[in-house]
Amino acid sequence: MELSAGTVRRVNGPLVEVDGLTGVAMLDVVHLGPERIAAEVVGLAGERATLQAYEYTGGLRPGHQVEATGDRLSGLFGPGLLGQAFDGLLRPLSGAPVWLTPDREVGAGDRAWQFEARVSVGDEVVPGTVLAVVPEAGPVEHRVVAPAGVRGRVTWVADGPVTVTEPALRVDDRDVALAERWPLRVPRPFRERLSQVVPLHTGQRVLDLLYPIARGAAAAVPGGFGTGKTLLLQQIAKWSEADVVVYVGCGERGNEMAEVLTELALVPDERTGGRLVDRTVIIANTSNMPMMAREASIHSGIAVAEYFRDMGYDVVVIADSTSRWAEALREFANRTGDLPAEEGYPATLASELAAFYERAGRVVTLGGRTASTTVIGAVSPPGGDMTEPVTTGTQRFIRSLWLLDRDLAYARHYPAVSWNGSFARDADAVGAWHAARGDPAWRSRRATTTALLAEADRLASLAEVIGTSSLPAHERVVLLAGRLLRDAVLQQNALSGNDASCTAAKGAALLGGVLDVVDACQRLVARGVAATTVEETDLADLVRVREEVGPGDAEGVAQRCAEVLARLEELA
Ligand SMILES: Nc1ncnc2c1ncn2[C@@H]1O[C@H](COP(=O)(O)OP(=O)(O)OP(=O)(O)O)[C@@H](O)[C@H]1O
Ligand SMILES: [Mg+2]
Repeated sequence: MELSAGTVRRVNGPLVEVDGLTGVAMLDVVHLGPERIAAEVVGLAGERATLQAYEYTGGLRPGHQVEATGDRLSGLFGPGLLGQAFDGLLRPLSGAPVWLTPDREVGAGDRAWQFEARVSVGDEVVPGTVLAVVPEAGPVEHRVVAPAGVRGRVTWVADGPVTVTEPALRVDDRDVALAERWPLRVPRPFRERLSQVVPLHTGQRVLDLLYPIARGAAAAVPGGFGTGKTLLLQQIAKWSEADVVVYVGCGERGNEMAEVLTELALVPDERTGGRLVDRTVIIANTSNMPMMAREASIHSGIAVAEYFRDMGYDVVVIADSTSRWAEALREFANRTGDLPAEEGYPATLASELAAFYERAGRVVTLGGRTASTTVIGAVSPPGGDMTEPVTTGTQRFIRSLWLLDRDLAYARHYPAVSWNGSFARDADAVGAWHAARGDPAWRSRRATTTALLAEADRLASLAEVIGTSSLPAHERVVLLAGRLLRDAVLQQNALSGNDASCTAAKGAALLGGVLDVVDACQRLVARGVAATTVEETDLADLVRVREEVGPGDAEGVAQRCAEVLARLEELA
């Protein structure tokens, strides 16, 4: 059917009804009015279409012309993504603070990129074949991969720089450019999903030791106002093992986003010697930008991640905050007149959450590389109510939950990850992975730690009633163990060069050392040493060591623990 032009019938915020459009399909992009406002078809009834507009509809009125494009909401994926900031529809934003308004004039399209072909005329090419690399695209090698459907022999290669949309090569008679257009909501194809669990080291001890995440898994960080969600996500962006980070700032305050950008720009990247921001893609849809572009922004983020995944990289997508994204869904649903489900969210909330989290995965790419997309979303439940729909809905689709605890945050125990409500469904498999790599004790350390923390919490409430001195000595040592685990291991100072991130080896040494000290204390009281004597022993050296030795210095930690153990032995 011919694509047609129609007319605006009714405008209600981002909800626009249009008459006379024929030949459009659900999720097609339509341009509205003289400003050509981008909108997506979200409902069809005869020749009447319901559209979701991605920009302010101020100035749009009944009678204005609309024009179908025949395309779905898509973005241009190519060199020029890394180190840059984009709006929710993946349009480049110019440098801060102007980046708060999309700049539609300057596209990645103007620049000519030098590329090095990895194939020659006559070579056989299948989807996933690396056709070229673009050296100036950033610190991770930018691989131009043959898109799905491109199969045949190379017949021509351009011999100089090209813009991202000009032909760079030809496969049979099909032109292939450095950049590829891809619909944001459609998962990119891969060869095979891998189920084997390989941990993604985050550098945050409480996560790596107690609530690990596998590469290609999804995690959520629910936490009330000001409990440290953004800071924890930033730490993960800075220190996790990802090759590429996609940071989606979704409905957060503009100045906060600006801070994130400045922060990232300052962080040196240990892997490349450059700056962290150069292997980061930022997608910003702050609270002062059009609400509905927020809805698209997380799909844009994950599409960018899949694009780099298909080059063979481990990518982490961070979305802060998915609750602000869900607000956009609710805002729109409330205007359509459909019967809302729980708390005004649309009945499709669960499937919308699934469409995001289920694009996480560790896969074999079309080109045969092993790569992953790990998805981590902050959830900000209004009033800290963990039973609200976004929080409960999210839990169905994630493997790890890092629940931030208000009491820990008030006590300035950071990261405020709770050991009561958090979980990691892949913890056993991660334990097996560590065992296969020479650390069979990872699993038992974790089990002992969670048991001690729970027991210490129970005893602490008991002690509040009956007084610590009424507890038997071995229980007083458990209370001491709880304090040591919290202060020496689980707390991590984001501002300390030594402590901000922690390698697996240093984490293992620290936790192992603290557990050894706890055992030694139990032996002392079993041999009749007074609990008070053990409690009064100065263990500050143990608590301080995480900040006093380097982020990978397991030796230094072990040495300090040995000194503390020797001092304890003298009490016997
Ligand atoms: N790891 C940390 N080290 C030191 N301070 C921290 C840490 N995490 C959080 N804080 C403190 O808590 C404050 C709030 O943190 P953050 O902005 O990350 O919380 P949030 O949960 O994202 O808040 P919001 O609900 O407003 O989004 C920070 O400004 C900082 O003072
Ligand atoms: Mg925040």
